[in-house]
Amino acid sequence: MGAGIAIIGCGSAVPEAVLTNDHLAQMVDTSDEWIVTRTGMRNRHIASPTESLSQLSAIAAKSAIAMAGISPTEIDLIILATSTPDDMFGSACKIQGLIGATNAVAFDLTAACSGFLFALITASQFIRTGVHKNILIIGADVLSRWVDWTDRTSCILFGDGAGAAVCQRVDDDRLLSFGMYSNGIQNDSLNLNYGGDRKLLTEDITAQYGTFNPITMNGKEVYRFAVAKVPEAISKAMFQANLTADDIDWLLLHQANQRIMDAVAKRLKIPQSKILSNIEEYGNTSAASIPLALDAAVRDGRVKPGDIIAASGFGAGLTWGSAIFKWG
Ligand code: UT7
Repeated sequence: MGAGIAIIGCGSAVPEAVLTNDHLAQMVDTSDEWIVTRTGMRNRHIASPTESLSQLSAIAAKSAIAMAGISPTEIDLIILATSTPDDMFGSACKIQGLIGATNAVAFDLTAACSGFLFALITASQFIRTGVHKNILIIGADVLSRWVDWTDRTSCILFGDGAGAAVCQRVDDDRLLSFGMYSNGIQNDSLNLNYGGDRKLLTEDITAQYGTFNPITMNGKEVYRFAVAKVPEAISKAMFQANLTADDIDWLLLHQANQRIMDAVAKRLKIPQSKILSNIEEYGNTSAASIPLALDAAVRDGRVKPGDIIAASGFGAGLTWGSAIFKWG
């Protein structure tokens, strides 16, 4: 068998509870009108104390595996892209156990909102080198656990969710091109930093003890970065794949802000009707946003086998990336 990659299944899961713009307006000085106009968001789904990232991921994974028509025991590798694991040692193995992927090896990957795309590209390397045949990639985050609910400039943006996809080794390669990028100079524009207190262990050894601080973000800087870098990354990928904007059937972008998605489409001269957007219902679900949008569009029949999708993720790091692939 050849060493091409196909994405043969997808799945998603979101928590039940819906936090609306009107709810947010009761919590901070904001309004439905401001949030809709500036972001395109109306709702976001929030994980309850009894819902875990691992559970949501397992539901998404099971539905991706069912669509792929394989058994969990046929999965060779699981890559969980998340910044908010249930366990700082990683949650991929927990998910492996929950779905019964007994023959897989599992690990976490952290690249914030670019995580799902980085997981796809990482998976493609294991497939192209012939190491693995079936790889489950998951993008999942529960950023609601780390949002500063008093900061109106960021708390309105984030929701929780999980999305998954199954990549398989095939003869006819359907991953047409990709690129991965990061810029640590702008690292301080979006953070979820550790912030423990000093803890004296002995007379001359001091450690730190505590937890992470809530998210801090320079929204304007992230906005400018996204509108500049995402079209550049997609243009490069189109060039590598020998494609023009007319060849792209769907634009699948990280769902950070509807205005960012519209600006990217405009720069690429891709009609807005080709943007896959679910931002109105889910807000920014970080690593989950791309697979959530993909899964909805595949299941409602918008995305059909053979459609060419230009995807791009971007976020904290700063990280960003692009991938052009044929669905199915
Ligand atoms: O996964 C990546 C994560 N992050 C992002 O992608 C964020 C990218 N950035 C953005 O999406 C936008 O910058 C925001 C939606 C965060 C903010 O929109 P903006 O159009 O850039 O607003 P702004 O920061 O320029 O603020 C405009 C005004 C300010 O008031 P003044 O200084 O003009 O009086 C803000 O204080 O809007 C105010 N403002 C709000 N007003 C009502 C900021 N947040 C809110 C709010 N409700 N929630």
